[in-house]
Amino acid sequence: MIISSSLVRRVAASLLPQRTRSHSSASTVGTPFDKLGVIGLGLMGHGIVQVAATASSSSSSSSSSNVHSEVIAYESNASYLDGGRDRILSSVERLVSRGKLTSNDAESLLSKITYTTDRDALDDADLIIEAIVEDVELKNDLFKDLGSRCKSSAIFASNTSSLCVTNMAIASGRPDKFVGIHFFNPVQLMRLVEVVRTEYTDPTVFEDVMGWVGHIGKVGVSCRDTPGFIVNRLLVPNLMQAMSLVERGDASIGDVDLSMQLGAGHPMGPLHLADYIGLDTCSFIVEGWVKDFPNDASFYVPAILKQKVERNELGRKTGKGFYHWDGDKRGDPVE
Ligand code: CAA
Ligand code: NAD
Repeated sequence: MIISSSLVRRVAASLLPQRTRSHSSASTVGTPFDKLGVIGLGLMGHGIVQVAATASSSSSSSSSSNVHSEVIAYESNASYLDGGRDRILSSVERLVSRGKLTSNDAESLLSKITYTTDRDALDDADLIIEAIVEDVELKNDLFKDLGSRCKSSAIFASNTSSLCVTNMAIASGRPDKFVGIHFFNPVQLMRLVEVVRTEYTDPTVFEDVMGWVGHIGKVGVSCRDTPGFIVNRLLVPNLMQAMSLVERGDASIGDVDLSMQLGAGHPMGPLHLADYIGLDTCSFIVEGWVKDFPNDASFYVPAILKQKVERNELGRKTGKGFYHWDGDKRGDPVE
């Protein structure tokens, strides 16, 4: 069930503890999040675990070397868990083989991670970041459960690309301790993190999270809870326009991508990027927006996107989308 925004605000107000909302100037100095939990180890979650564990272990890290004593990497079932662990291991091995990470630092960062399918392991975490599939019902159910089991001081965050953060904050039962922490793909390389505050986010919580983002080596920007925040509000409609160009036969996949690389200086063309993000995720994002904001003309779902998702042609993660893929290696455009 999607809750209307006015109801969301009223319920949130009733859940807020009676406390002052003044900013704390001391809270950005350190990170109060000793134990981090990450839920979902897909494309995004495995990267979040890896960068947090790296910041907690690396002897060469510019941040204080104990950002977290432990990073709990949680998945709902064993095969997803193994997939996430494999991704982290191969990324770390690649860094070691290229001389970008010492074997000692690799060992140290891997030792910070506890892999589990047992949700009880999250009960005493200080900060929990959710990175499961972009589905509002699943996320709300998850946060409701976390709200009832986790210690009362724990802060919750969603890595959602597009969903209403306030809605999830309400479901958690602790809207003052809830933010969006939106990483970018690939997490290991992209420096930006959007930190999303709702009107109920305690300013101290917001500042602590901003401080944490800096401690793990990322650059945080602040945004209100608005659809797509900053980057996706600008980026995703652009991806949809690229799909429409191809769908109409105006230009080929290769030429659209080459044009945006050589003509606009983008590191990847938009169809390559859509495959890289995952066409299911792209589709979840725009379908949600169309449902919630039917009068906004920049939100629409191209038929070609629907067709590809229906055929499970989700891009990099299933080996075919707008391009053929061999693991992480992009092949030729799909004719
Ligand atoms: N994890 C770890 N390391 C990786 C990696 C990954 N996923 N991908 C590449 N690398 C490493 C490579 O191994 C390589 O290391 P070596 O030099 O040791 O070989 C290094 O990074 C550079 O790799 P490439 O030569 O392939 O990289 P590139 O220069 O082409 O850059 C890129 C790769 C950073 C992904 C670049 O193409 C890029 O910026 N693309 C756009 C990405 C983007 O827009 N992301 C945002 C998506 S939108 C989003 O995330 C929000 C949302 O909600 C949907
Ligand atoms: P993904 O498909 O790679 O991984 C999603 C994870 O969700 C899987 O590992 C799986 O374990 C878990 N999952 C799937 N169904 C579930 C269920 N029924 N219950 C519990 N867990 C379930 O997705 P992703 O690309 O990592 O996206 C995760 C989140 O991050 C989404 O909210 C997405 O919008 C957001 N995000 C994605 C990108 C991107 O480029 N892919 C970028 C930024 C943010």
